[in-house]
Amino acid sequence: MARLWGQVALITGAGRGIGRAIAERDALEGATVVAVDIDESAVEQVVADIRANGGEAHGRIADLGAVETLAPLIHDLAERLGTLDILVNNAAVTRAIDFFAVRPEDWDQIHRVNARGLFFCMQAAAELMRERGGGHIVNIASIAGKGFPGTSNIAYAGSKGAVIAMTRIAAHVLGRHNINVNAICPGVTRTDLYYQVVRERAEATGRLEAEVMEAFDANIPVRRSNEPDDIAALAVFLGSDESRNVTGQSWNVDGGLIWD
Ligand SMILES: NC(=O)c1ccc[n+]([C@@H]2O[C@H](COP(=O)([O-])OP(=O)(O)OC[C@H]3O[C@@H](n4cnc5c(N)ncnc54)[C@H](O)[C@@H]3O)[C@@H](O)[C@H]2O)c1
Repeated sequence: MARLWGQVALITGAGRGIGRAIAERDALEGATVVAVDIDESAVEQVVADIRANGGEAHGRIADLGAVETLAPLIHDLAERLGTLDILVNNAAVTRAIDFFAVRPEDWDQIHRVNARGLFFCMQAAAELMRERGGGHIVNIASIAGKGFPGTSNIAYAGSKGAVIAMTRIAAHVLGRHNINVNAICPGVTRTDLYYQVVRERAEATGRLEAEVMEAFDANIPVRRSNEPDDIAALAVFLGSDESRNVTGQSWNVDGGLIWD
């Protein structure tokens, strides 16, 4: 039996990378997927691909940083689809920035989506889940949020630390409403974001992109960076009732890079 049969799952940043892999996995496990992304053509593509594989999917274009639009969007979707069982807060932005080069506007741009947008999405979804008796929230953080020094920049690491802290607070507050809240902390994961950071690192250090990628993998105990599907596998478990007594945790998927 599919593990998410009959569930409605909203995934932010579902147009590409990890979000897309989670949307596809959730659909394979029987969920009706709502793919939300700022990139219209990416949303259309993921929805079309899920439907072509026999799954059920709907798309919505939204900027997760425009927080005033999130509650109306989530309420409208729940009205149309009858419920919202799973929220995967995945959308985020970053780029490689040296410690001394981080400007206030970089900080604001990163935190606007990664921390502020994530919280207000979680708040709107939790309100609905509380009304209907429960749900699952999965926040995609990062091992950068636990201080992994290979982060793209310090402002990003701070935004992901905020996600881990908010996951614990939300789990505490929402537990009595039968809503569990967990974070996944990916390590190095081969997505567009990863290839962008590889390009920026290569430019900044004068190394070849292949050398930067080798250096990433050489530091990983299993000598293998993640595929997006490695994250999706855990997201399915945390979005399912199998995880009902697991809450407030932040789970590393990183090939053993850090132990925290
Ligand atoms: N790739 C990695 O190595 C890695 C490592 C640790 C954590 N993560 C985290 O995993 C998550 C997914 O990362 P990814 O590598 O798949 O990224 P990605 O850049 O490949 O995809 C991110 C998606 O989010 C969308 N998005 C960006 N800003 C948005 C906004 N304001 N509103 C709506 N959608 C928006 C993009 O259009 C894109 O489709 C992020 O939270 C990221 O911080 C990634």
